[in-house]
Amino acid sequence: METETFTSIMGAFPAGVAVITTVDERGQPKGLTTTAVSSVSAEPPLLLVCVARTSRTLPALQHTQRFVVNFIESGFEEICTLFASRAEDKFEGLAWDSSHGGLPYLPEHTVAWAECEVEREIEAGDHVIFIGRIEAGEAHPAQKQPVVYFRREYGIVGPRP
Ligand SMILES: Cc1cc2nc3c(=O)[nH]c(=O)nc-3n(C[C@H](O)[C@H](O)[C@H](O)COP(=O)(O)O)c2cc1C
Repeated sequence: METETFTSIMGAFPAGVAVITTVDERGQPKGLTTTAVSSVSAEPPLLLVCVARTSRTLPALQHTQRFVVNFIESGFEEICTLFASRAEDKFEGLAWDSSHGGLPYLPEHTVAWAECEVEREIEAGDHVIFIGRIEAGEAHPAQKQPVVYFRREYGIVGPRP
């Protein structure tokens, strides 16, 4: 199958946008924008995220074995664009915090966040799947709307008209 066909198929499936944040071996904050995030298990609480082998955040994730999933709030699409870039320091000039576990995260820009410890790493094609055990997290009030990605555009979730 052509890659274009694959992305068109998967692009027809709306997905929330999450920025994955971690630190590298020098303690520098790193992160990337993702939609390949899924709930896996409630007991124990597990989620997964798929990261491309070409990602410059991948070595940091593999080294630190911990990460935060920041589910981005509508209105902060520029953060999704920033973390989808190859910028050297994506955190420069950004209001970010340190989690209890000492990881960079973006609670002010999220509808929810989850701090995870890597439980398993699975190689799958051109991506690496990280199964993370959720150690801490929070969901913000229901009136906050998430950013969703659908047919290569950012959108919002709304009630049926
Ligand atoms: C909406 C959107 C969703 C994305 N989802 C993923 C994803 O699930 N996994 C992934 O590895 N890259 C994903 N990307 C691409 C990365 O964000 C992009 O390649 C980024 O430059 C990686 O940064 P890094 O090399 O600094 O880690 C997505 C990009 C966008 C715009």
